[in-house]
Amino acid sequence: MCGIIGYCGGNPAIPRLLNGLKKLEYRGYDSAGIAFFTESGIVTVKAEGRIANTEALLRGDYENAVSVCGIGHTRWATTGRPSDFNAHPHRSGAVTIVHNGIIENYKELKAECEAAGTVFRSQTDSEVIAALADGYYRENADPVAALQKVMERLKGSYAVTALFEDRTNTVYGFRRDSPLIAAETPDGNYFASDYIAVKHLTDTYFLPEEGVVAELTARGIRYFGPQGEQRAPAPVTVTESNRDDGKGDFPHYMLKEIFDIPEAIRNTCRDHVLEGLPSFDDGLLQRLSAAGRIYIVACGTALNAGKLGKGYIERLAGIPVSCETASEFRYFPPLYGKNDCFVFISQSGETADTAASMRMINAQGLYTVALVNTPNSTIAREAADVLYTRAGVETAVASTKAYNAQGALLFLLALALGMKTGRVSAADAARKTGELTDGVPAAVRKVLTESARIRELSHRFCTAPSCFFLGRGPDFFLAEESSLKLKEISYIHCEAYAAGELKHGTIALIEKDVPVIAVISGETIRAKTINNAAEVKARSAKVLIVTDRAVPEERETADAVFTVDCPAEELFHLCAAVFFQLFAYHTALLRGCDVDKPRNLAKSVTVE
Ligand code: F6R
Repeated sequence: MCGIIGYCGGNPAIPRLLNGLKKLEYRGYDSAGIAFFTESGIVTVKAEGRIANTEALLRGDYENAVSVCGIGHTRWATTGRPSDFNAHPHRSGAVTIVHNGIIENYKELKAECEAAGTVFRSQTDSEVIAALADGYYRENADPVAALQKVMERLKGSYAVTALFEDRTNTVYGFRRDSPLIAAETPDGNYFASDYIAVKHLTDTYFLPEEGVVAELTARGIRYFGPQGEQRAPAPVTVTESNRDDGKGDFPHYMLKEIFDIPEAIRNTCRDHVLEGLPSFDDGLLQRLSAAGRIYIVACGTALNAGKLGKGYIERLAGIPVSCETASEFRYFPPLYGKNDCFVFISQSGETADTAASMRMINAQGLYTVALVNTPNSTIAREAADVLYTRAGVETAVASTKAYNAQGALLFLLALALGMKTGRVSAADAARKTGELTDGVPAAVRKVLTESARIRELSHRFCTAPSCFFLGRGPDFFLAEESSLKLKEISYIHCEAYAAGELKHGTIALIEKDVPVIAVISGETIRAKTINNAAEVKARSAKVLIVTDRAVPEERETADAVFTVDCPAEELFHLCAAVFFQLFAYHTALLRGCDVDKPRNLAKSVTVE
């Protein structure tokens, strides 16, 4: 969260900083700013709102500013509301910084600096970094030593770049539990909180170690350890990277990414299907199939995909699976054993809670597998084994194609584990693999052709301030994801309930015309969920049923029924998710929401 860029080189810095920030804007977009060296010192320009607001200020006052070095930031507010004052960069005395992360002990540090005479201008935790650095710099005029001392004082997570007033055209950077890369490119030298900002310039970068201060000038980058000793980090060479092809003819990234789903599933499966059968590294299968229990740990949509995976693995391979919310897992872990294995799912590969949970398990020497979409990301790098989804860059904040790709990969993994544990025959595995690789993309394409009808349904149903989703078993897991998708981009209050649970309290909220959307698939629980839908219909709710087979009882109960054809009952959820993604998209548009950048959210959640 929060995008950071730094530049020093022989070219104009301002357009490069702005360009970098635009590539990083997915990380947060409630304010933005840059600071750059000019002949008359460091200039800071920042504004609440999107980067365009900062650009407008630059056009007005700094049309002809010349600079070859600076730093920039696009913010996702943690401490202090979005405002011009709280926007980064922050300056204290000689030091100007931008920060990504959370300084947990900022209150006590701020009190200490205030006692020494510092006047703070923002409500942020970040400003204390500038204040501390300025204090230490005044003691010994050594930026590296000052920043080392700052690091000793900070608790929490951070990636920071800093300018010192009299260290012209030099940027310093350091990090802890938060990404910051340094790259030497033909265009100049860069810091960035994500490789994506420099991807067009180089396929090699450096990841400064924690505790190291990197010093970036036009001549190169130097790295200094805690005692001031020079370090030489190993370069990371990017052998593969997702390519952002823009949004093409689509009006929004989200819509484009929903239409990418057939391809995302095909590309994901391609790596793991050999001669029509699921194919994974045997060592990985060995370890997972021998596990007492597999824990799937993730956040948000990735967690919801993990829940589908739990169903697949338990049913097909007979291995017990628990799904855990990463932010809870890291502080309140269940009682796992040394024979248990851990799968961490993440689109970005940078989610702070998921990464911290994985580190906790790695530190205990237990087996970790990352299932990620972003090559070279933190979670991909640090797991014992990694499986990639091949959904391509996901730019819209609401995750869509990554969910379907994660579900597809988990299904293939479950099949492979089922073959390993002897519960799935080769013939069944081959049939099910075909249903996934050919059947699901075809079924998804069919849903995509019905976008206009889905828009009409969304306009008919999403007229109330609240909306409820019902389902049982895997239908409930999809209900949870569908509820999350709708609420995050349309701002309608949504809740998902295990259908039988509704009458234990929540049914009190059902009144005339409250939309209730029931997900129904398979035969074992069809009649039960239809009954639950009938219960809310009897209380005048407006009922929409999304089903794999519209039986007469569904038509009699619901105000509308949408049928998703799917190649097999167990693959219904991967296909029906597309209905709900489009449903959320059209609802958000109707309500005039910013579909790709919903309020208060950011794409990569690198703070806990
Ligand atoms: C919802 C959404 C989030 C993410 C969550 C985890 O649409 O995008 O809930 O799924 O923040 O992100 P990753 O998968 O990057 O770890």
